Amino acid sequence: MLYFAITSNSFRKSSIDELNKISRFKILDEFINSMVIESEEVDFVGKLIRNGPIFIYNMVFLQEGAVKITEEDYLEILYQKLHLALPKEGSLKIECVDLNCKTSYSAKEIEIFMGERLEAEGRAVDLKSPDHLAYVIMVNGHCYSGVSEFGRLWKKFIEPERHYHTNTKYPISRSELKLIQAFDEFKVRQGAIAIDLGAAPGGWSNCLLRNKYKVIAIDNGLLEYEKFKSNNIKVRVSESLPINTPDIKINDLIHVKSNAREISDLGEGIKADLILNDMNMEPEASVSILLNFLRNLNPGAGLILTIKCINRKAELHIRKAEKALSGKFKIISIRCLPANRQELTLYASYLGDGKSAEIQK
Ligand SMILES: C[S@@+](CC[C@H](N)C(=O)[O-])C[C@H]1O[C@@H](n2cnc3c(N)ncnc32)[C@H](O)[C@@H]1O
Repeated sequence: MLYFAITSNSFRKSSIDELNKISRFKILDEFINSMVIESEEVDFVGKLIRNGPIFIYNMVFLQEGAVKITEEDYLEILYQKLHLALPKEGSLKIECVDLNCKTSYSAKEIEIFMGERLEAEGRAVDLKSPDHLAYVIMVNGHCYSGVSEFGRLWKKFIEPERHYHTNTKYPISRSELKLIQAFDEFKVRQGAIAIDLGAAPGGWSNCLLRNKYKVIAIDNGLLEYEKFKSNNIKVRVSESLPINTPDIKINDLIHVKSNAREISDLGEGIKADLILNDMNMEPEASVSILLNFLRNLNPGAGLILTIKCINRKAELHIRKAEKALSGKFKIISIRCLPANRQELTLYASYLGDGKSAEIQK
C-alpha cells in the first residue's frame, strides 16, 4: 500500500519514529515536510489517528504506482488513472500538490485541466464540500494519485500551507497562522475573555478578536495598534494593574505592557476562558509564569501553549511541559501544526481548584 504523509520538517526523525510505531515502511519519495511511503499495513491512517500522532500532520492513501513526468502525455495517463478510482456517483474536488517537481504545468493548471475534463463528462465539481477528493501529488518527478471519500478524510486538504494562506485575511505576524491552525485542530470552545501571554506584535490577539474574545494581551513589546484601530478594535494600553471589569466591557483589547513574570493577579473580577502562551522560552520557565495566572481562569478554561524546542529533542520538551502542567491542567492534545517551526502546540484544560476538579470528574 502507498501513502502520502505530511510530516513536521523540524522533527523529521520524530516523524519517522511515529510512523514506525504503527508499522514497518519504506520511503519511496520525499520532500522537506512530506513523504510517500510503502507499507504492508492496510489501515495505516486509521491506526495512526487512533495512536494520537504528534508529528504527522496528515496522511492519505495513494493508488499503486507513479506516473513519471518525463512520460509523454503524463497528464492524460494520470487522468485515466484517477478516473479508474473515482466512484461513478457524487461530486468531486481535485487537489494537486507540486513538491519540487518543476513540471511545465503548475499545480493549479493541473487541477483546472482535470476538473474541466471531469465536468465535460458530466461530473459535478464542488470545491467546498465534495463527496470525493481526488488528489495528485507530484514529488521529485513522480506523480502519485488517489481518491478518498471527503467526509472520511482525516484532514480535508492535502496541502495545509496553501489552504491556510488562501483562507487567512490580514495576518499581523506569521505566528497568527499557528493560532488559526490550533483553533481548527483542537476545536477550541468559544469563550468571553482570553489572556495572551507574549502577545507582541499581536497576531494571536488578532485571531482571538476575530473569534469574538475580549483580549488581555501581555508583553513588554509593542502591538500593531494602528492595524487594530483601523479594524475598529477598541484598544487600551495599560501600564498598571488591576484591570477593572468596566475596562473589559468598553475595550476589545487591553495591552498590559509588562513582563508577565512580574504579574501575580490581573484583577479580582477577571476570569478568562482561555489562556495562551507563545513566550519564547523553555517549557518549564514558560509554564511556571502561566501558573501565576490561575486565579484569573475559569475552571475548564483552555490553554494553548507553544512548546519551544531549543534543540530538536521534542520528546524531552514534551515531558518537561507535561510535568510542569501536571495536577493543574489536563492535556488534551499535543500537535506539530503545519505553521510550527521548531516548536509544538499543546492544548489543555484547567482543572480548577479542588472544588472545580471534582466537577470535572
Ligand atoms: C513569538 S513572539 C509572540 C508572537 C505572538 N504570539 C504573535 O502572534 O504576534 C514571543 C513574544 O514573547 C514575549 N515575551 C517573552 N518573554 C516574556 C515575558 N516574560 N513576559 C511577557 N512577554 C514575554 C516577547 O516579547 C515576544 O514578543
